[in-house]
Amino acid sequence: MAAPALFDLQGKVAVVTGASSGLGVQFARALASHGARTVLVARRKDQLDRHVDELTARGLHAMAVAADLTEPEAIARLFDTVEREWGTPTILVNNAGLAQAAKLAEISRQEWATTMALNLDAVLFTAQMAAQHMMAAKREGSIINIASILGLQVQKGVGAYCTSKAGVIQLTRAMALEWAGRGIRVNALAPGYAVTDINRAYLESPAGQAMLPNIPLRRFGGEGDFDGALLLLASDAGRYITGTTLTIDGGHTLAL
Ligand SMILES: NC(=O)c1ccc[n+]([C@@H]2O[C@H](COP(=O)([O-])OP(=O)(O)OC[C@H]3O[C@@H](n4cnc5c(N)ncnc54)[C@H](OP(=O)(O)O)[C@@H]3O)[C@@H](O)[C@H]2O)c1
Repeated sequence: MAAPALFDLQGKVAVVTGASSGLGVQFARALASHGARTVLVARRKDQLDRHVDELTARGLHAMAVAADLTEPEAIARLFDTVEREWGTPTILVNNAGLAQAAKLAEISRQEWATTMALNLDAVLFTAQMAAQHMMAAKREGSIINIASILGLQVQKGVGAYCTSKAGVIQLTRAMALEWAGRGIRVNALAPGYAVTDINRAYLESPAGQAMLPNIPLRRFGGEGDFDGALLLLASDAGRYITGTTLTIDGGHTLAL
C-alpha cells in the first residue's frame, strides 16, 4: 500500500481529549487533515468552538463536545453524543492532562488526587468507554494515550505528575494486552518538552531555558513535531503496533 493510503483516515471517527489548547489542538488538526471526522473535547467550549471553526473553514470535519473528564457521567454522555451524531469512534487520543508543582514532602492529598483524577483515572475510564463502544459495534480501533518523558524519567517538584505518567505507560500495556483480541490497539506517546499552557512559564524561565543544551536536537518540540508518530499509531500504518510507548523528545532522554 502506498504511504498516503496507509495514513488515510477517511471514514473514521476520532475523539481527541484536551483539544481546547496545546498539543490536543495539534493532534485534532493532524487527524482531521488526514480525513477523520474529529471530535474535540475539553471543558472550555468557547476555545473548542474556535478550533472547530478553523477546521471546518478548511473543509474538514470537526465537532466540539464540552466535557469534564473527571466526571464519569460526562464521559458516558460524550460517547453517546458521538455515537448518535457520527457513529462509533474508532480512534481515541487520551490527551487531557495537568501538571501541578508540588514537592512530595509537602503535597496534599487533594493535590495528589487532582493530578491522578485527570492524568490516570480519566485516561482509564475514557479508554474503557471507547473500548466498550468499539466492542459493542464489533469495530477495531486505536487508542493513543499521551504520557510524557516524565513517565520515564523524574524531575524534582513534579513527583505526582511523573508518577501519573509512568502509570499511563503501564496502563497502556495492560489495556493493550486485554483488548488485542478484539482488534483494539493501545499505545502511548511520550513527548518531550513543548511550550504550551501547561509549562510556558517554566520553559521560558532561566531554569527551563537551561535545559536546551541537554536536548540533542537543541530545541523544544514545536507545532507538527508529534504528528507523524500520532498518525502512525492512529492509522493502518501502525496496524501491528500495540502496547508500545513512542518517545518523541529530540533525544532529550538520552542525555537527561
Ligand atoms: N507540553 C509538554 O511539554 C508536554 C510534554 C509531555 C506530555 N505532555 C502532555 O500532553 C498533554 C496535553 O498537554 P499540553 O501541553 O497541550 O497542555 P495544555 O495546553 O494545558 O492542555 C491541557 C488540556 O487538557 C484539558 N483539560 C484539563 N482538565 C480537563 C478536564 N477536567 N476535563 C477535560 N479536559 C481537561 C484542557 O482544556 P480545558 O481547560 O478547556 O478543560 C486542555 O485542553 C497532557 O497530557 C500533558 O501531560 C505535554
